[in-house]
Amino acid sequence: MKIIIDTDPGQDDAAAIMLALGSPEIELLGITAVAGNVPLELTARNARIICEMSGRTDIKVYAGADRPLGRPLVTAEHVHGKTGLDGPELFEPSFALQDKHAVDFIVDTLMSEPAGTVTLCPIGPLTNIALALQREPAIAGRIQQIVLMGGGYFEQGNVTPSAEFNIYVDPEAAALVFACGAPIVMMPLDVTHKVLTTKSRIDRIRQIDNRAARAMTEMLLFFERFDEEKYGTDGGPLHDPTTIAWLLKPELFSGRECNVEIETTSDLTRGATVVDWWGVTDRAKNALVLRDVDADGFFELLTNRLQNLGAQT
Ligand code: RIB
Ligand code: CA
Repeated sequence: MKIIIDTDPGQDDAAAIMLALGSPEIELLGITAVAGNVPLELTARNARIICEMSGRTDIKVYAGADRPLGRPLVTAEHVHGKTGLDGPELFEPSFALQDKHAVDFIVDTLMSEPAGTVTLCPIGPLTNIALALQREPAIAGRIQQIVLMGGGYFEQGNVTPSAEFNIYVDPEAAALVFACGAPIVMMPLDVTHKVLTTKSRIDRIRQIDNRAARAMTEMLLFFERFDEEKYGTDGGPLHDPTTIAWLLKPELFSGRECNVEIETTSDLTRGATVVDWWGVTDRAKNALVLRDVDADGFFELLTNRLQNLGAQT
């Protein structure tokens, strides 16, 4: 599977990137950074740090949009820390960003690879994907599928009562993506709130003897504290790697094809993903919306694949 991960790292983004790098089924064509959890300069730096922790300084990382299409950037340092990757000791990445802009990389890749062979995995605000669709509308018919972490229906929102962070930050970009016609798989809070980084699950990752797993353990211990306090749970939701897990083992998940529209006008509910789960409208079904997951199976897969990330010291 050839994929591009579009990301705003973020400790849970790191788990998604490491899961992809630890899975031989996946060819990671490149990582495109977007402003989200923290500003672009940091997300572009963090993406390279994560690759270096995984022993993969060969991965091409591109910087993309530094703000949403038409709104000021909203960040989440209170969740991810000032660096966006608080937890482990960080360092200056030893390899540089690619010169090409992320949006040009997305367009060029989709226009040069055979149609229907490249999957996009956006796990941050959808600004880069929307810009690529605006720059070259023809890519919509060439994308194999868009497997995105974002939105919430039964779970509603996490950054406001009705909106999940990735959609909330750039609702106009999300509306454009959900209307583009490419096959969409939506991994909402309804799923990710069921994959909690419980103590026993973190302990299993802690036992893996490599640099990536040691860093991941420290990231999760930092990242989970905010949601543990908010939800009163053992562990916090590990949002982003569920997209990669779906690519690897879709049988871990269940959901249904639905119409999904994005609220972009109301200040009260901006960024809400309005999912017609019960089919009460005749609006076109534009996304596979997932709702349930085998959480133990998910963590089994993640833990198993982290072991493949070399034995770096
Ligand atoms: O709401 C969760 C999403 O927002 C995750 O992608 C997390 O990394 C943040 O970007
Ligand atoms: Ca993210």
